[in-house]
Amino acid sequence: MASGPSWRRTHTCGELRKAHVGQTVVLNGWVHARRDHGGIYFLDLRDRYGLTQVVIDERLAGSIKLAPEFVISVRGVVSAREGAQINSERPTGEIEVLAQSIEVLSTSPLPPIDISGATETALETRLKYRYIDLRRPQMQRNLAHRSRFINAMRRAFERQGFLEIETPILTKATPEGARDFLVPSRVHPGEFYALPQSPQIFKQILMVAGLDRYFQVARCFRDEDLRADRQLEFTQLDMELAFVEEEDVFATWEQVMRDTFKEALGIELPIPFPRMRWEEAMERFGVDKPDLRFGLELHAVDAWARASEFQVFRSAVEAGGRVMGIAVPAQYSLSRKDITELETVAKGIGAKGLAWWKAGATGGSGPLAKFCASPQAAQSLMSTMGAAEGDTCLFIADRTSLTRKVLGELRNQLGRRLGLIPKLSSTTDAAQWRFTWVTHFPLFEWDEDAQRFFSAHHPFTAPEDWSLGGALDGATPDLGSLSSRAYDLVLNGWELGSGSVRIHRADVQQKIFSLLGIGPEEQKRKFGFFVEALSYGAPPHAGFAMGLDRITALTLGLDNIREVIAFPKTASAVDLMCGAPSLVDLEQLIEVHVRSVLPEPKPGAAPA
Ligand code: AMO
Ligand code: AMP
Repeated sequence: MASGPSWRRTHTCGELRKAHVGQTVVLNGWVHARRDHGGIYFLDLRDRYGLTQVVIDERLAGSIKLAPEFVISVRGVVSAREGAQINSERPTGEIEVLAQSIEVLSTSPLPPIDISGATETALETRLKYRYIDLRRPQMQRNLAHRSRFINAMRRAFERQGFLEIETPILTKATPEGARDFLVPSRVHPGEFYALPQSPQIFKQILMVAGLDRYFQVARCFRDEDLRADRQLEFTQLDMELAFVEEEDVFATWEQVMRDTFKEALGIELPIPFPRMRWEEAMERFGVDKPDLRFGLELHAVDAWARASEFQVFRSAVEAGGRVMGIAVPAQYSLSRKDITELETVAKGIGAKGLAWWKAGATGGSGPLAKFCASPQAAQSLMSTMGAAEGDTCLFIADRTSLTRKVLGELRNQLGRRLGLIPKLSSTTDAAQWRFTWVTHFPLFEWDEDAQRFFSAHHPFTAPEDWSLGGALDGATPDLGSLSSRAYDLVLNGWELGSGSVRIHRADVQQKIFSLLGIGPEEQKRKFGFFVEALSYGAPPHAGFAMGLDRITALTLGLDNIREVIAFPKTASAVDLMCGAPSLVDLEQLIEVHVRSVLPEPKPGAAPA
């Protein structure tokens, strides 16, 4: 038996089996559940490893007060359970421990969370009492999975000769499209550090420094609106390689994912993953992160629309827009009500309407029927849509980007509504993991609100054409038409990660900044050190970063990354447990030379 305090455990609550029968053991854990069987108590003792039934006789029960979530140490003898007493659903179900003595190590009021999970607890309560929520076997499983998955990835990178290198958290802004978190400097009045949105600039500088093949489990900070797949701080598996191109990055990751899925999940992923150009993804699925687990692909109806009498369709194509549609097979019998609901969804995204046609060789039915009255028109629309008689076709006519966006969303909703997405099971069926690389993203994206172009990925992404459509030689290219060497890895409709071949030429990097409206003075101030680094012998390089919260949530079949993060923030960016963010003392603000612009606070709170 181990030395130390009298309460020190000899085994965990998930460990005892028939082979231990007769042994005297000490278990430590939380009181999970208690049942009174006329003087004899059955108690389930819980720790991270499982549950063990403890039997307490009348004498012992009378001498000790126990309640749920008390922390206790039980000394007793392992005894075999017989016949109907055996609990075959529990690894420890063939034994129980006959308690000889019990020591209460810690007490607890009635917990606000049902740890057995039998009743659901409000999210706010779960987050406020996260330390109790995390005791739930579900949450312990999630965090254990996360740990195993990330460690398997680390080993997979090490096997491929990568070095794990840490980069700073207190740094200068890294543009990844979100707002920065700023940290005031005490030593330099009026100056601020920024928390990294990603290690992007540092990992590129590591390539300039000759530290080819870097990776890091990197914490990133982005002040952006939170969603199911977004937190203010999150973790990336970040990496970069020198002297490579796209295919080298893809091959590295395919091997890492294959190794990791095998080790952490026992799944044999087929590699290589398919590759798809961005343009093809947008045409076939309406989104840049296609869910390949079901069909319902988009079809281009522009030619049919141009020749038709339907004014809504004709005017859309004549204005340079698009008409596209989805054919829902007859077997799913979409009702009028379904269509009305889908139209509401479409309009919510900005569509003007949702035209539909129940396909029929003699005109079919729906608003489009009168334009399909001739057998030729009907036949031609059916073949354009890949539809058979009885299928329901849904159409959007609008600007290209809106047409794709609306149909992309309708397709995803139909996939879910019609039950076309298989429920993730714990089987080792590799077919349910549909990875794809999406490549050749645009270099720039037009932002309607800001009325200017932004980098579609980030400003360090290499263009496909190093002359930037002639911009390097003074021409004025159509920025919206330039293609980049950025790529995403997509899994089952989620963007798991992004990367690109980088700009390793200082002149091209400077030109990109100029095209983005960043003038020479601002360039020098924000990125001067980086451009200078590129000028000192930068090798061609490329890299990628995967969202670890996303991949670990997805591989557990969860749809919110909060479930794989020990201490997440709420949708309104608050840590309910510790109450961050919070006011600070005046002395602290003075120390870092910060004055608030807010009105005078109430007495006792932080100052203005
Ligand atoms: P990107 O900004 O696409 O690329 O981020 C890479 C991946 O990180 C995850 N991610 C997030 N996860 C949770 N919460 C967030 N707020 C959040 N934002 C991003 C996603 C995403 O795909 N430096 C580049 C990578 C590179 O070019 O090498 C970058 O950060 O899974
Ligand atoms: P209307 O002839 O204007 O009543 O429209 C006939 C059908 O076309 C209705 O089902 C509308 O929802 C639909 N519709 C209208 N505008 C569009 C559009 N831009 N794209 C797709 N369908 C539309």
